[in-house]
Amino acid sequence: MKLVGISGSLSGWKTNVAIDEVLQAAKNIDSGIETELLDLRDYDVEFVRALPLSYYNEDTWKVVQKILKADLLVIGSPIYQASITGALKNLLDHVPVDGLKGKVTGIVTTGGSEKHFLVSEYQLKPVVAYLKGTVPSGNVFIHNDFFDEENDNEIIDENVLRRIHKLADEMIRLQKGINNQS
Ligand SMILES: Cc1cc2nc3c(=O)[nH]c(=O)nc-3n(C[C@H](O)[C@H](O)[C@H](O)COP(=O)(O)O)c2cc1C
Repeated sequence: MKLVGISGSLSGWKTNVAIDEVLQAAKNIDSGIETELLDLRDYDVEFVRALPLSYYNEDTWKVVQKILKADLLVIGSPIYQASITGALKNLLDHVPVDGLKGKVTGIVTTGGSEKHFLVSEYQLKPVVAYLKGTVPSGNVFIHNDFFDEENDNEIIDENVLRRIHKLADEMIRLQKGINNQS
């Protein structure tokens, strides 16, 4: 099984660190899982112009193919203006309507205000569900205070690390269940 993580930040590193933590947790749970982290700053994803994918540059095509080929996904975004980043929404706009069908898709958000811990429920979950992804019951919101900025943004809160492990565990169980049915 291949688990692809997407980091939807083009600026800081907290989302990248958090998504990497989910990928590591998944590998600890099942060493047979292959993982890949797609950091959107590494790809020149073009703005959607409502054209077939073949009209866009190679990076855009490559990122969408990686999503379509993944067995399961974990999507991460910093909260921007009480929503997800424009970069992440633009990428999701490229994904075909059934593009996440049969794929468990976990969600992780980071933010400076704990008042926005439910943003993923209202802003990202509906998009994933529209693309037919299966969203686990648990998601993870990480406040900026739980990262050690002096130490490569290491996550320093045990409770957050437990939630990340729980998310990875639920994602793997759900995906295995889906795979066994088909
Ligand atoms: C343009 C912009 C808008 C932001 N809006 C919010 C917001 O509405 N709510 C919030 O909790 N944090 C907000 N933040 C803070 C980021 O979500 C937070 O610092 C996040 O952890 C950064 O993640 P990153 O290091 O992966 O880029 C905003 C940051 C930026 C740059």
